[in-house]
Formats: sequence, structure tokens, C-alpha cells
Amino acid sequence: MTQSGTDPARESLDEAAPRNHRGAADFQTVLDQALSRRSFMKGSLGIAVVGLFGLPLGGCASRAPLRASPAASLLGFKPIATSTADTVTVPPGYRVQVLLPWGEPICGSYPAFDRDGGNSAAEQAEQMGMHHDGMHFFPAVDARGMPRSDAGLLVMNHEYIDWLFLHPRGPTLSALRPAQEVLKEMNAHGVSVSSIRRGPDGQWTLVRDDRNRRITACTPMTIAGPARGHVLMQTAYSSEGTRARGTMNNCSHGFTPWGTYLTCEENWSNYFGYRDAKARPELDRYGVSNQPGRFGWYSSRGWHAVAAGQDPEAQFRRFDATASAAQADADFRNEPNTFGWIVEIDPQDPRSTPVKRTALGRFAHEGIVFQPPQEGRPLVTYSGDDATFEYIYKYVSRQPYRAADAGGHLLDDGTLYVARFEPDGRGRWIALRHGENGLTAGNGFRDQGEVLIHARLAADLVGATAMDRPEWGAVHPQSREVYFTLSNNSERTPERTDAANPRGSNPFGHIVRWREDAALPASADDPAVEGFAWDIFAFAGDEQTGSVAGRALDASNIFAAPDGLWFDGDGRLWIQCDVSNSNVNQGRHARFGNNQMLCADPASGDLRRFLVGPVGQEITGVVGTPDGRTLFVNVQHPGETTGLEDFRQGRYTSHWPDGAPHRPRSACLVITREDAGVVGGE
Ligand code: FEO
Ligand code: CA
Ligand code: CA
Repeated sequence: MTQSGTDPARESLDEAAPRNHRGAADFQTVLDQALSRRSFMKGSLGIAVVGLFGLPLGGCASRAPLRASPAASLLGFKPIATSTADTVTVPPGYRVQVLLPWGEPICGSYPAFDRDGGNSAAEQAEQMGMHHDGMHFFPAVDARGMPRSDAGLLVMNHEYIDWLFLHPRGPTLSALRPAQEVLKEMNAHGVSVSSIRRGPDGQWTLVRDDRNRRITACTPMTIAGPARGHVLMQTAYSSEGTRARGTMNNCSHGFTPWGTYLTCEENWSNYFGYRDAKARPELDRYGVSNQPGRFGWYSSRGWHAVAAGQDPEAQFRRFDATASAAQADADFRNEPNTFGWIVEIDPQDPRSTPVKRTALGRFAHEGIVFQPPQEGRPLVTYSGDDATFEYIYKYVSRQPYRAADAGGHLLDDGTLYVARFEPDGRGRWIALRHGENGLTAGNGFRDQGEVLIHARLAADLVGATAMDRPEWGAVHPQSREVYFTLSNNSERTPERTDAANPRGSNPFGHIVRWREDAALPASADDPAVEGFAWDIFAFAGDEQTGSVAGRALDASNIFAAPDGLWFDGDGRLWIQCDVSNSNVNQGRHARFGNNQMLCADPASGDLRRFLVGPVGQEITGVVGTPDGRTLFVNVQHPGETTGLEDFRQGRYTSHWPDGAPHRPRSACLVITREDAGVVGGE
């Protein structure tokens, strides 16, 4: 998500990612930091360029090193220029189709979209949500059981909403909010499952399929893993602490080797508040506030502020986490603990109940990526916590992966680790295991459930490295090297820099990568699981400040605020940008134009701009068909730069994709080549 602008109607949203305001240095001493930063910068564009490629492969589970021919490139398209136009631009020889925009009916009674925001809450629950984000394509299989590239399920996150465009005249901004208005907002969040198919004319369309489904901020969920039934998960809705309602702020995603979808709950904390006079540090650490804002709301959207008579099932007042609630049926002090998880969804079974997998930890999950699994080895995943000065986590299953019986149980029993990046290019995964590394009752952790529910506090205690907003990760399909975007951090001062976050401030962001000592450990107890070597792959920025694999950027590839990240099957690294709407096309960010997507060949360091989106949006979410000839890319929140007064006058900064005078809509782009070749390739 991006930060909102400065318009009063936008200010109340407060969409900025929660911040970790801890003052302590995170990485050795301040002196060490300064020294490491100097030597880092002296090596011109990064220690890492030499670092990783010089590593011996012995002891690595890598099957193959990165390609060794820097002269050749995996990229075969002509880079495009930056743009501020209200359109989508791609290289010559490419085609773009718009698919499944916000409001497109996908299930139930397939209610038609009202271009003026007039759909009801119930209708929104059968239409595409707003703010398309991470997504995965689950291909259909042919008669021989082979994956098809012309049909499948597209499963997508809907991260948040633009409530100006959601409602006919914007939201009701007052002490009490109309129930149906809030319910529509809840139903515009969540996840969509859409069956899609390519027709003979090459156009992709929705198929009316029983599997099509909307999952929203109201959908019943099950809680699994070590925090299931924990006293801190018990609410008036589930006194056993085994169930929860809804998923929201689903940013990036993941998919499992057994064919399920994982949706990740990121900036959920903005939607909660509490009225206790005494601050609760465990909520404060996650950005849930007891400070009243406008209209007396304690949260960004005031979802709790619905009249009691309109809320018989406490669907709304659960967002008020006040501990001193007068009645037992209003005690939702633990409701915030039921968010911040990774949720598993079986897209093939529309009746399945989504499951919150608590062994993966609770924080502002951006997404989750897997090391390609191997029979008989533990499963290994990575997940970033997107807020300033937050951490990168890894999970290793206790049981080995076996294709015959692989399933969600592998995500319920394992060890969560947090990353510490050392100045010498080495790193260490520190286990967040109760009873170890100071995670004891004496330090506030009664059991493993509490370690996971308060994962940020546990990571603080063990000395993890505070990063510049970890966004998406991507694992190279052959080398198993892991790449992570660090979007930006304007709050990092020169005194607080470290080797892995060497720029203070860091308005443009960078991309870190590492190679595990054992990408897939022999067993969960293999000590090699704890070591890795790291470097910095790219510094985002302009021609003066940016670089990739040690080479300065130029007009063909300057970029800022990397966020989305994905390796296609050939090893091309796709990078998506999310410059906030308070910065985009302004000041030092003016050079970058509208948010864009680039493609890199990590071996050669070739980086080229592939796509530029319309006005006021971010590019986020990318996945291809198995043959690599169709790419799905999401455009989120076009026109979010529209202020309240301009909205009321019908003056929108974007009318994409329907054109003037219509409201802008998030949508999916289907990108193909005129010659039907592999997208991005020769
Ligand atoms: Fe929702 Fe971290 O972007
Ligand atoms: Ca972002
Ligand atoms: Ca993101």
C-alpha cells in the first residue's frame, strides 16, 4: 500500500505503514555501523556484488550457480521511457488487455457493476474487491494431467479501499457510521477466486464457475498452529480461541506446493483502536492506538463506530479492542490478535474454511515465498514485516516435505527464525523458540503461542536487524538465492544505518539478497539452517544514486520504492514500484514518473523498464501462465491522488481504465506478445 496524500479526507485514512519507533541501535555498535557503512560505500555500489558471486558453492543446497555469462541477457525487449500519462505503456510488440476490474461481478447472482458507486454491500460481496494486489494463477490441467496455459483460477488479494470512489458520494465522515456503508467497505476487502479462460480471439474472460468466490473481512476462519486456543486469542466471538472472522489488508501472497493460496495480512492494525486510558504496550508495538482521532474514532476508518442497534452480531464493534468492556459479549480485547497472520485458502473448494496459520508468526505480513521443496527435506519459507525498522523472518517445518501427504500441517509445526545481517556479509537466523534466546516467562513470553502472537516483541529481544520496510521476497528457481525488496525508509538517520540498510535516509529503497548455507537443511535440527551470506543486489534511485549489480542506473531503468518481486520460470526478476502518492511525480521523485515495473537478469545485471501504469496507482502483483506467454499484472488504486473537493466536483486525477468521465478502478492487466513469444524474453 502507499501512504495517503495530505487531503483532509485522505488524512483520516492514515494508510501509512505502522512504524517501529524503538530507539535502540539494532546492529553492533554505532561505531561499527559507521565503519561498515564507509567501507560499503567505498566499494562503490556495494560489497555484495563481489560478495555472493565469490562464494564457494560447497555446503550449499544450490543445484546450479547463477548463469556465468554477463555478456548475454535473458531480456529481449526494448526498455520504455518513464511517463506521467493516464495510461498503461509497454514495449513495442506487446499487447495489454484489462481484466477483472473492481466491481466486476464474479459469483452468486453476478450483480452488475454500478459505475457511480451505487452497488450495495451485498452486491459488493459478489463482485471483485478493490485494490488488487498479490495474486497467483492456478492452471487447469489437460486430459493428460499437464498444466494448461489458457485456463485456470486467478486468486487475488484486495488490499484496501478508496472510500471516495467506493461510495456514491464518498464515506459518511461523522461520529457514527451507517452499518451498510461499513459493511460494503468490509466486503471490498479480502480475496477473490475467479475462473478465467483465453478464447479463440486471444482475449481472457471470466468463466461462471462454482469455484468463483469472494472472501472478505467477515468470512469465518479457523485458527491453527501453536496459538490456536491460546488465552490471548479468545474473544466474544470464539471463547475457545479457535475461530476468527475475516481477513483484511491482504497485501502480497504465496502459494503452497500442494496447490493452496496463502494471503498475508499487512496493515490491519490501522483498523483497530481501544479506549483504555492506560496504553497497552503489546498493542502499541503493532500500531494499534488508544488515541482518539477525528470524530472520536480510535481507528483510521471508524468501523467500530456503528450504532449498537445496527450491530447485533458485533461485526463492527469487534474493532474496538477496549479491555474494560462492560459486557462479556463486547469483550474484543483480543480481536487484534486474530489478525496479522498468513491465511491458507483452498481455491478448488468454495466451501472450505480459510485457516490462519499461526506458526508463521504475527506481524504486518507482506507476503510469503518458499524455497522449491524437495522430497524428504524440511519446508522453508520467508516472510517480510512491512513497516519501518521491522524484520525478515524464515520458517522451517519440523516434518520433512513428502509430496504424497504434503499439506497445511507442515505450516503448523516448525521453527520461526528472524534475520540478523552482520557487517561482514554473513548473516544468522535466530530461532524464536520459547525457552531459548531469552524468550522466557521472565521476559514476558509464557509459551510458544505468546512468542508467535507477539513475534515483533520476540524479534526485538533477540537482536534481529531492523530493515527498511521489507516487502516482497523471491527465490531464484535454480540457484535458490533469495531476494527481498526494502521499499524505503525516510526515518532512517545516518547514525542508525547498518551494512544491510546503509543509506540514511533511504527515500528510494534497495534490494537485498542472500544465499543460505543450506537452502534446504537435511533436517529441522541441521545447524546449517542458521547461516547465510548476503549482499545488496540493487540500490533504487536516479542516475546518481541508483545501481544494479554494481552498475549505475540510466534513463532506461531508474526506479524508486521497489515493492513487488517475482522470478519467472526462466529466472527473470520482475520488480514493481510503489512510490507513495504523497511523493509520486514530486520533488526528488519526479524523475521516476508514474509507478512502473522493470525486469532484471540477475546474472548480467541487465535491468530494463517494462511497464508504466496510469496516474495515482501502484503496480503490484505479477504471475505468469506455465508457458510464460501470458503475464498477469495488477494496477492498484489509480486516481488515489484525487482530493475530496475534486472528487465532489467529478474531477478525478485518473479515469483509467474506463475513460472519462468514469471513476478509476483497480484492475488486472493481461500482457502478451504480438508474436506469442515468452513475455520479457528474446
Ligand atoms: Fe501493502 Fe507493503 O505493501
Ligand atoms: Ca508498498
Ligand atoms: Ca506491497
